Amino acid sequence: MSDKTDPAFDQQYPGSDESAGCCCESPGASQPTIYQEFWRDTRGELHRRDYAKGLATIGGLTAVSSLIAPLAGLSQAFNPGYSGPVYEDGIALVDGDGNRIQEDRLAEGEQLTVFPEPRPGIDNAPTLLVRFPEDDYGGETNLEFTISGYAAFSKVCTHAGCMVANRDGNTLVCPCHSGLFDPLSGATVVGGPPPRALPQLPITVASDGHLIATGDFEGAIGPGGG
Ligand code: FES
Repeated sequence: MSDKTDPAFDQQYPGSDESAGCCCESPGASQPTIYQEFWRDTRGELHRRDYAKGLATIGGLTAVSSLIAPLAGLSQAFNPGYSGPVYEDGIALVDGDGNRIQEDRLAEGEQLTVFPEPRPGIDNAPTLLVRFPEDDYGGETNLEFTISGYAAFSKVCTHAGCMVANRDGNTLVCPCHSGLFDPLSGATVVGGPPPRALPQLPITVASDGHLIATGDFEGAIGPGGG
């Protein structure tokens, strides 16, 4: 099994740390939240680095670890000038090397970090692609958004924006504050502080056998968004 299909340790997205990308001071909600001003303003990011360093002096390393980790990522992951949808109907899902995802890419139980096929403004938008037996899906899963046992969710935690990078059995685990999501029930929250599910992406298989989106995420990405 390659690293990219390792169910326990999914790949990093380019230019970031797996635990990076959250902003523990969640900004206000807007659509979509990944484009909120704070996340695309490197100056704001620097201010928060300074703030985190201050806490290291005052409050100790525990507070620091939960703040520093989130600071490095999302402004690197998204073109700051882009404000359109992340996915659209027909946009291919690609791996970190830009390869389209053929239908047989994952075995049941595996997961992979994928991205929308690059187009102007969208270079990286980390998305968790999982595959399970079709009959295992239920609960809050939007079954119309699944195909051949595949389901796709935003990888950006709805608590404070970390990358949901880990697995515990079938449960998706956010490393920052142990948020838990059930990928067999629409990535609903089953533990920890996240306030809502990871938004699901509608996907299907194109005529030539690779996975494509049929629209954008069904909810706001990351913290906020209601
Ligand atoms: S960012 Fe806090 S649990 Fe994910």
